Amino acid sequence: MTTTPGSPVFTLLPAWSAHEGAERVRTLFEATFGAPATGVWSAPGRVNLIGEHTDYNGGLCLPIALEHRCYAALSPRTDTLVRLVSAQGDGEVWEIDLADVSPGAVTGWGAYVAGVAWALREAGHDVTGFEGAVDSCVPFGAGLSSSASLEAAFAIAIDDIAGLGLGADDAGRSTLVAACVRAENEIAGAATGGMDQAASLRARDGYALALDCLDGSVHHEPFDPAGYELLVIDTRAPHELNDGQYASRRATCDAAAEVLGVATLREWLDAGTDLETSLAAALGRLVDDTTRRRVRHVLTEIDRTRAAFAAMQAGDWGTFGLLMDASHASLRDDYEVTVRELDLAVEAARTAGAIGARMTGGGFGGSAIALVPAGTSAAVATAVVGAFVAAGLREPAFLTSRAAGPAA
Ligand code: GLA
Repeated sequence: MTTTPGSPVFTLLPAWSAHEGAERVRTLFEATFGAPATGVWSAPGRVNLIGEHTDYNGGLCLPIALEHRCYAALSPRTDTLVRLVSAQGDGEVWEIDLADVSPGAVTGWGAYVAGVAWALREAGHDVTGFEGAVDSCVPFGAGLSSSASLEAAFAIAIDDIAGLGLGADDAGRSTLVAACVRAENEIAGAATGGMDQAASLRARDGYALALDCLDGSVHHEPFDPAGYELLVIDTRAPHELNDGQYASRRATCDAAAEVLGVATLREWLDAGTDLETSLAAALGRLVDDTTRRRVRHVLTEIDRTRAAFAAMQAGDWGTFGLLMDASHASLRDDYEVTVRELDLAVEAARTAGAIGARMTGGGFGGSAIALVPAGTSAAVATAVVGAFVAAGLREPAFLTSRAAGPAA
């Protein structure tokens, strides 16, 4: 991607080559721990094309893995000590004994990693301590699953060095996903729903991952939007999932499901004959206005994701784009998880020619995605930067990516 002279310059965040990522962590590992690492593993960040805040409601989502990955160099230890260093940190070694890991007991970024080893041990696997070095080109705090990619990189690494064999097939990878989710929920303290870890561990190169969060089943659908390309806009508006807002959305959905007498809102949706019937029946039972809007988002979003999946199968990107737009409106007006930067990014991208745009991930900052005519990413990015500058906002950064492969 290039910029035209005279137009606002924009920042493109490139993905590293596998070679570059591996070299970086190998070098960091050796400089820190004084010996070469046993091996290098990596796992991707993700963007979700549609199906937002549906995973913890038993719903559907449609992520792709990014070419941007988190790299981990590792060597096993014979004891239960975990020692970590991150290129994104201050050079200090983060250390914990796995015997001391329990919910509420671990602070700092290493919680995501130690949590994975802890969860695998909790599941009965024979996992020892290790030394690990991390470096990542998944932008941190951008809503592109930097934490899930960190967990997944270590999950696949531990799986390999402990000889668990879980990475070999999708069923085993689902077990690794479950360990990562426990790490994030119970050790790192973020009540997230599992889509990100599934995308990072279960995606397939060239395919979008249609994930059914009710039973954990997946379908791989080729992601090749002929005539279009995907532009990712990192708004750089700070995004954190453990600050209470995310957990409060989830709690509202859980409470609504309880009032409706179902385990998940998805089951409520599927119990009706169609969306309209299920939605009207739910709204008839729920009194609180905020809860009603949250539930309306979840039910309509699951329905939109179904429709988007069908549109993808049919190669109908026009319809897909309209569904992206509707998803964003619902997240903005009913679920209330967008911020000014996300709304502006989406609006500016559409004005510049995107056929669909929406926030992606948890919201409250983070990234948006836009489906733009092939070859126009640079022009759209330039227009988005212009809109941010005009609004007095910090300039966003951009990523482009094809649907990439899973943790390996
Ligand atoms: C974050 C969470 C996911 C999911 C999305 C919203 O990315 O980690 O589990 O809930 O938000 O769709």
